[in-house]
Amino acid sequence: MRFDVVTIFPEYLAVLDVSLLGRARREGLVDVHVHDLRDFTFDRHRTVDDTPYGGGAGMVMKPEPWALALEHVAAQGPVSPAPAESSSAEPGDRPVLLVPTPSGERFTQRFARELAGREHVAIACGRYEGIDERVFGWAEELFEVRLVSLGDYVLNGGEVAALAMIEAVGRLVPGVVGNPASLVEESHEDGLLEYPVYTKPADWRGRAVPPVLLSGDHGKVAAWRRAQQEERTRERRPDLWAAYDSED
Ligand code: ADE
Repeated sequence: MRFDVVTIFPEYLAVLDVSLLGRARREGLVDVHVHDLRDFTFDRHRTVDDTPYGGGAGMVMKPEPWALALEHVAAQGPVSPAPAESSSAEPGDRPVLLVPTPSGERFTQRFARELAGREHVAIACGRYEGIDERVFGWAEELFEVRLVSLGDYVLNGGEVAALAMIEAVGRLVPGVVGNPASLVEESHEDGLLEYPVYTKPADWRGRAVPPVLLSGDHGKVAAWRRAQQEERTRERRPDLWAAYDSED
C-alpha cells in the first residue's frame, strides 16, 4: 500500500522511519512518499498562502500549488486515475485523498480498516486557516476526497493527524504487526474499550493481579475480560456504550 503526503513541513514526517512502521517501510509492506508543497510554486518566495476573500484573520492556502502537487501525486500511484468524465468510475477506482481538518468527519477504527484495503492513499496537510475550498471539488476528478478529523480539538496543521492516520491504517496492513491476533482484541475492534492487562509480579507494591487471571480457567478469564470491557466502556465512553448497547 502506498501513502503520499503533501505538506509544507516534510521533516515533520521523519518519525515514520522508526518503530514498526519504519520496519514495514523497509520491508516494502508500506510505501510512504512525502512531498513539499513549496516545490509546486514558481515565485521567488515559494508562496503557498494568501489573504482570505471576505476578510478575516489569518491566511488561506492558495489553490494552484495544491492542484499541481495533487496531480503529481495522482500520477505516481499504483491506481490509475479515472478520467473526469467517466460515468462508470466507482469510488474504489480512484485513490483516496484524506484532508485532515477539525471540520471533517470523525476518523475511526472502522474508517482505518476501510482504508487498509485501498492501494493508494494521499494526504493533504493544510496549515494556516485551511486550503481554498475549491481544491476539494476539483480534486474529486482524481481522488475520492474525504475530509477527516481526529477529534474535537484543533491542531496547528494536518501533519500530526497524517502521522496518526498512517499509523492506524499501516498497522492493519497484513504483515506489519507481527501477531495478527493482537489486532483483534484491541479497543474499538468490537465496539468496546480494551480490558485491563497485567504482567509479573503477581504482587507489586502491595497491589495484586485480579485472582481470576491466575486461575487457569480460560472460560472464567474470558468472561471477566468481557465484563471489564463493558464496565469501562459504560463509565468512560457513554457514547460508544449507547451504540454498542443498541446493537444487542
Ligand atoms: N487539523 C487541525 N486540527 C485537526 C484535527 N482535530 N483533526 C484533523 N486535522 C486537524
